[in-house]
Amino acid sequence: MEIINRKQRMASIARKLRRESKTVGFVPTMGALHEGHLTLVKEARQMSDIVIVSIFVNPTQFGPGEDFERYPRDLTADAAMLAEYEVDYVFAPDTDEIYIPGFSTYVYVEGLTETLEGASRPGHFRGVATVVTILLNTVRPDLAFFGSKDAQQVGVVKRLTRDLGFETEIVVVPTVREESGLAMSSRNAYLNEDERQKASILYQALREAKLAFKNGERNASAIAQIVEDKIATEPLARIDYVAVVSNDDLEPIDKIADSEVLVAVAVRFGKVRLIDNVILNRKQ
Ligand code: PAF
Repeated sequence: MEIINRKQRMASIARKLRRESKTVGFVPTMGALHEGHLTLVKEARQMSDIVIVSIFVNPTQFGPGEDFERYPRDLTADAAMLAEYEVDYVFAPDTDEIYIPGFSTYVYVEGLTETLEGASRPGHFRGVATVVTILLNTVRPDLAFFGSKDAQQVGVVKRLTRDLGFETEIVVVPTVREESGLAMSSRNAYLNEDERQKASILYQALREAKLAFKNGERNASAIAQIVEDKIATEPLARIDYVAVVSNDDLEPIDKIADSEVLVAVAVRFGKVRLIDNVILNRKQ
């Protein structure tokens, strides 16, 4: 496994791999790797000849007062894990390799980025879309792997690859959960043991929504209410939003019909903000 710091070297290896007709699978991360990331890597390993993982804590997707400075960083530990999973290249650039001096070009995906996480974290998706564009342009993978915990990010990335004509196929991998049901996230490391147990209320609430849907509930606000009521039973939890929206365009809906519906939540536990979601569809 080679660790690459320079964008130019990464791009030149990517060119060589394309000339050799290798299938390249790419997993973009911000490091602090956990089982969720490793599941993406395993999937990439199965579907590709060459696996490239990027580790880059992207400053432009953090808002003022968010956790950019204290975001967990441990390249040595992350690289050791990736070596075990037979990753071929780790791309770990410094900030000024990605945001070169005088950088002034950003990618903004309209509409989709204005609700949910976009409304709570202004500028977040501009940062995500910009860095993902730079990374895809450098690595030029055949496949790129994203976790469905970040459902809105998946939508944004799919839209930008389509609109900007990237040939990369976006592969979405189901959320990996702790035994309690809590979705794996690098930010879980900020929770103390008590908060970590109690944070499983997010998934319990989402499961109740799923059950209600299975039992015939089709009213979006009733589903949202079920989720809110359940989360409200946990005194440590402070709801940022509970949304029941179309999974295609993230527009709010009244009645759940045939197309997929995303039930998404963002909840604070102390200073830690957690997100999670489930998809409702008739085929489940
Ligand atoms: O999901 C993440 O870890 C980040 O948003 C990503 C896609 C690596 C972009 O910085």
